[in-house]
Amino acid sequence: MITGNRAGPNGEARDTARRDEGFRAPSRLRPAGRLPESLRGVRERTHMLNSAVLDGIGRSKGTDKSAGGTGGHDYLRKYEFILKDLKDLEFTLLELGIFKGASLRTWEEYFTRARIVGVDVVPETQGHAGGRVETILGDLSQTPFVESLSALQARVIIDDASHWWTDQLRSLFVLYPRMPGGGIYIVEDIHTSFQPLAPMFSAGLDTPPARVLLKIAEYMTGNNKTSPFDPDRRMLPLSPEPVFHNEARAIADMTDLIVFMEGSCVLMKKS
Ligand SMILES: C[S@@+](CC[C@H](N)C(=O)[O-])C[C@H]1O[C@@H](n2cnc3c(N)ncnc32)[C@H](O)[C@@H]1O
Repeated sequence: MITGNRAGPNGEARDTARRDEGFRAPSRLRPAGRLPESLRGVRERTHMLNSAVLDGIGRSKGTDKSAGGTGGHDYLRKYEFILKDLKDLEFTLLELGIFKGASLRTWEEYFTRARIVGVDVVPETQGHAGGRVETILGDLSQTPFVESLSALQARVIIDDASHWWTDQLRSLFVLYPRMPGGGIYIVEDIHTSFQPLAPMFSAGLDTPPARVLLKIAEYMTGNNKTSPFDPDRRMLPLSPEPVFHNEARAIADMTDLIVFMEGSCVLMKKS
């Protein structure tokens, strides 16, 4: 049932009640049939994910963030849509997790003026420094080390390290609030929050990072400048407060936009 107070014809408040028990979602969400002639081809031409410059570079460098190869995540087409305005700007990009350096070389080629910083716990990865790429040796499971990275004031942070739930949440909770306004934070491979990978990545935690990110999205949608909002951001029907409620609520309040894609999530911080 949906109820509401509406003003009557003479301005008086009156209760209205509308019974919607009979409501059913339409069985077909898209009308059948073809696009009108005038719109044919428009969708293809204007499709915002069509640019494949970053993906092409990623393929040539061999990172699994591209759509190429076996197991390619196909993140780069979507990241380019989000990051393209930074292409020729001076800023710092920080990536957590270097491995063979393929993604660092991808960022260096695409972002023509950026300082690219990679972090890894394995000493051999440090050899991937060179050009505009710098490397830092450190263990992201250590909070003081993660905190020290905020001094870089990176405009873009990509978490592609262990994907352990504890590490993903620690880095998000520590680094994101300390980023400059307008910062873009990417949590990669959040399908590790789901079965069958969850037991391998949970690291003893009960709350998967994807659940926390979805909570952040839920709280954000309840925020609106034009109406007062519940400080606890409760959406009906009331559910128990999730673990990391305070962190999720704080992040929701500092976030302009959150974008989900298959396996990855991007947060954009308010200026
Ligand atoms: C998925 S790979 C990175 C791939 C790389 N970003 C790319 O796209 O080419 C993950 C990396 O995270 C590093 N890593 C794992 N646990 C870590 C930790 N606790 N601290 C720092 N680095 C860690 C691993 O050594 C590995 O090199």
